[in-house]
Amino acid sequence: MTEIIRVLELYSGIGGMHCALQDSGIKYEVVAAIDVNTTANKIYRHNFKGTYLIENGIEKLTVTQIDRMKIDMILMSPPCQPFTRVGKKLDIDDLRTKSFLHLLDLLPQLTHCPSYILVENVKGFEESQTRDLLIKALQKCQFHLQEYMLTPLQFGIPNSRLRYYMIANRLPVNPNYSWSNTEQLCYSVPSVVQPNLRYKILCDTEKRCYHTDKGVNPDMISMLNSKKEETNSLSQNSDCENMSESKLDECTGCSKNKCEEEDWMFVSHNDGEGESSKTNEDQVLAKRLKTKHSCDTEEEKHSNEDDLKPLCCMCDNENRLMDESQLLRQDDETEVYHGKCLQLQHFLEKQSAEYFKKYKLPDKDLKRFIVMDVVFPCIRKTICFTKRYGHYMEGAGSIIQMSTEAEDVTRACQLKMEAVEKKNNKNWGEKEIDIVRKLQLRYFSPREIANLLCFPETFDFPEDVSTIQKNRVLGNSLNVHVVSVLIRLLTMK
Ligand SMILES: C[S@@+](CC[C@H](N)C(=O)[O-])C[C@H]1O[C@@H](n2cnc3c(N)ncnc32)[C@H](O)[C@@H]1O
Repeated sequence: MTEIIRVLELYSGIGGMHCALQDSGIKYEVVAAIDVNTTANKIYRHNFKGTYLIENGIEKLTVTQIDRMKIDMILMSPPCQPFTRVGKKLDIDDLRTKSFLHLLDLLPQLTHCPSYILVENVKGFEESQTRDLLIKALQKCQFHLQEYMLTPLQFGIPNSRLRYYMIANRLPVNPNYSWSNTEQLCYSVPSVVQPNLRYKILCDTEKRCYHTDKGVNPDMISMLNSKKEETNSLSQNSDCENMSESKLDECTGCSKNKCEEEDWMFVSHNDGEGESSKTNEDQVLAKRLKTKHSCDTEEEKHSNEDDLKPLCCMCDNENRLMDESQLLRQDDETEVYHGKCLQLQHFLEKQSAEYFKKYKLPDKDLKRFIVMDVVFPCIRKTICFTKRYGHYMEGAGSIIQMSTEAEDVTRACQLKMEAVEKKNNKNWGEKEIDIVRKLQLRYFSPREIANLLCFPETFDFPEDVSTIQKNRVLGNSLNVHVVSVLIRLLTMK
């Protein structure tokens, strides 16, 4: 019988690590989770009712307490503020690092030292003194270790979230999966753990699209089962990337026709009438619009890729429209993976226009149009959603443009270009705001952010948690899929 791995989840937040354990397929028991944040703890309890959650500072943990738990694995994402690129980088001098340093102090003193450790943090941690102390403590305890810098984009997830990861193992390492001790940061994971993400997304999307009061549509289940066999055989050939998106679309109900008809209730259609009265530029934009409406079949993608860009204001393919400071804030790796990711639409909620009203950008936020990262359902990238999403516009997360009316988009693009050129939108009045208003911009819902972070469909929030609180804790959390791949790698025998 496979042993059950006893896990201690530190800085547990809303339980991203716990979800990754579920996703990894290993046998585990979370012996205890620890966090000080009451909102995050409320959400954790709501989702993991049976787990022992300690609402206390980690700096209060003792050797005896940890030894008594007889843990095999520690999963943790310590506070990242002391290491962020845009922060003060106070590192070991930041009070928020204190609890982590305390832990590093305890580790070599443990009688029952865990066999596995996984640490997640922001880019910047890799060059910190705290990281050096972590390595020293682990080496003292005879761990093999490997550090990674990974983004969900390289796993096909259309969300940028470049993060530092470290996995450490005290058991003898299988030489066939030699992941440890290369002493260099790795930017990819071995193909042996390349995940079958497309199948997972397919299942999750299926639940989102087809889950009715009576349960999941049985026809979809049988279709999914046949797709599962297909994707399994694809992944055995280490080639799951080859599952075409049209197949995925077929299963998720986002086939070309459906998309054109009514799938995206927020996509307003240009029927082509009256095009003769438009300028050349309008016609090109209208052509682009049609391409995007049809959700790009493979053929269309190739025939149009040079001149047809998504009809979206300031999206990644329209970089010239972007504020330079915003461009700098994007992860350097982003462009490398763009195009390999699933379209955003697979991660969006399928809800009525009425439902999305609460996420509509108020007029005061529309004034920040020139610094927004505006995306579109057929796009394959969003920027990282931070805990400031909904409070700050610049670099805090993407915004969805719900209208694709060519004229409206053209006008908004021109407005933005002018404002970027003049480096100012201070004198924007009602006329300008009205142009932006027509784009029908909305925030991502917390469920959609959770989808991009690969939280399972079953993950839920208590009713009394506000949208701002949800955004804050999600922004603090992690990409479940990336961590689950690393847990698999870490525990591979
Ligand atoms: C980067 S977040 C980790 C989020 C978590 N992995 C998740 O999935 O939500 C850091 C967490 O550490 C918690 N924290 C910060 N200082 C702490 C301390 N001294 N003791 C316990 N928890 C702490 C914060 O409340 C926050 O939830």
